[in-house]
This record gives sequence, C-alpha cells and structure tokens, in this order.
Amino acid sequence: MLIDLDTRCQEILTRAREGAGSVASPAELQQLRASFLGKKGAVTELLQGMRDLAPAERPVAGQRVNALKAELEALFDQRRRDVEAATLRARAGGPVDLTLPGRGRFRGHLHPITRTARDMAQVFGGMGFTLAAGPQVEDEWFNFDALNIPRTHPARDLQDTFYVTDDVVLRTHTSPVQIRAMRAAKPPLRVICPGPVYRCDWDQTHSPMFHQVEGLWVDENVTFADLKGVIETFIGEMFGKGTKLRFRPSYFPFTEPSAEVDMWFGGRWLEVLGCGMVNPKVFAALGDPAYDPERVQGFAFGMGIERFAMVRYGIDDLRLFYENDVRFLEQF
Ligand code: PHE
Repeated sequence: MLIDLDTRCQEILTRAREGAGSVASPAELQQLRASFLGKKGAVTELLQGMRDLAPAERPVAGQRVNALKAELEALFDQRRRDVEAATLRARAGGPVDLTLPGRGRFRGHLHPITRTARDMAQVFGGMGFTLAAGPQVEDEWFNFDALNIPRTHPARDLQDTFYVTDDVVLRTHTSPVQIRAMRAAKPPLRVICPGPVYRCDWDQTHSPMFHQVEGLWVDENVTFADLKGVIETFIGEMFGKGTKLRFRPSYFPFTEPSAEVDMWFGGRWLEVLGCGMVNPKVFAALGDPAYDPERVQGFAFGMGIERFAMVRYGIDDLRLFYENDVRFLEQF
C-alpha cells in the first residue's frame, strides 16, 4: 500500500509541476492550486483514502502526504511570485527593479525677476502704494509728449525706441503709467507700476526687454523730503536698514528737480534709480483741474527690476535672466 502511495504522490507532483509551468495568470494559478489543495483536490482525496490503510501504516502515510502538501505549496507560492513579476514586467514594458529609489516630483518656483518684483511691490504696499498698470504697446503721447519729452529729445531716437507705427511705440519706460493713473483717479494718489519695458539694446547689462517699477505720489503737500523718506525706507527694507544712499542731481524731462540715487553695496556706489518732483508741465498736460499744478505736487521714481535682482543675487550678466536655462534658474 505504501508503495502505491509513493507512486501516487510522485504522479501528483509531476502533474502539478507541469500544470504550474503552463499557467499564465494569477487566476489560472489559483484554479490549479485548488485542483490539488482545495476541498475536492487531489491531496484531500489522498488524505481521505488513508481511512482504508491499516492503522500501523497511517502515521508514515500521513507524513508522506504532508510532505507532498508542503512541496506543492512551495511550488505554487514560487510560481505565484514568478507570474506576478512577469505581469508587472509586461505592464512596465521591461524588467522592474522595485528596490530603485522613487523619481522625485519636479517642483517649479518663481523666476528671480518675478520674485524681486513681488518683493518690491510688497515693500511699497506697506507704505500705502497700490498697483497700477498700463499697456506695453503705448501711444507716443503717453510715452513721450505728456511726460514733457519733446520731439527733439534723444530718447525719441529710433535707436532707442521700437516704433510699431508712426505714433505707437513699445513703451520705453513705465512712466506713461503715471499719466494713465492720473487720468483714472483724482489726487491724493499713491501708485506703483511694475512691468516690462522695451529698448533697442542688447549686451551684458542691457536687454531689449526688461522690467521697471514706477512710483508716483501726488497730494497737496508732498515734498522732496517725503521722496527721500520713501526711497530710504524702500532700500532699507530690500537691502538692510542703514544701507548708505547718495542723491545726485540729475535730469529727467518729467521731473524737476531730478535726482539719481546710488546705493553703497559690495564696496562701491551702485546707481539704482531715478526720481524727482513731478514737473508742473506734466500736471498741465493732463488738462484736469484736479491736477492743477498750483494746487498739487508730487514725486515720481523709476527703477530697473533686473538691476535689483542682479545685486541681491550676485548675478553679473543680465542675459541669464532670459535664457531660462534650468541650471541657472534652479539656483534660486
Ligand atoms: N523713466 C525713467 C527711466 O526710465 C526713470 C524715472 C521715473 C525717473 C520717474 C524719474 C521719475 O529712466
């Protein structure tokens, strides 16, 4: 009888190996496993057949069947792992190494120019300035005439200005927004305008498109002392309180008197902005009694955002801002 049992065990094992070798999916394997180890499976049948054995033979027979059971379980388990791995591989289109580290998700961030512009707006916001905007394709009147830039002024020269038509230009500065803001609201007025401007230039420190922030404060009793206070507060917030400043007399057609401001940084004076008291001729050009130059006065300032970003991040070539090389941008 025991010899008989051995043969049957051997036969079951052979059948199981053949079957396992040809299953292609976990579901098929599950079925195969049940046909051997399930309630009506071949092994269960064997165990039931042990009732017919002589009592003395039962313990040995039991051991044999248990050994077969263990062998079958090991066979099906191994096969299950193989089938699952093959399914994964097929889905991934190649071998999958589950021990590889994950691929981190790429996270973008603000461009250094955007970030600098926002920081600047934040500081002015704290001093009560609100945001104003104007078109980048601008009438010559707003860009030049209303700002007291006569037709003979060199800034009108074709070398600096991109003309769209005879009297429409790409704005060469954000100062035309001063005019638009004053036409849109009565004094007291306190606005800043960040945005792109265009000039016909391209080298290490000039780009045909760059960004400026314009500021304008108009009221009845605004003085040059207020202008100095605003600029000092602004530079203090951006580069640290006590940063040394120097106001140099200068000339802009739309401000009178005018000044250029230098800041002491990295052991030298750096020119950072232009400013001045609004020229009464600019108020007069509005033709609005609310902006009667006999009643209101104000100050304006304008500065390049790139210049500030270059200083704060220690960048010496402005063109890097526009190449959008991720190796550069990733550093901020
Ligand atoms: N618009 C001037 C420029 O582009 C800057 C400026 C603005 C100067 C406002 C004085 C007042 O250079």
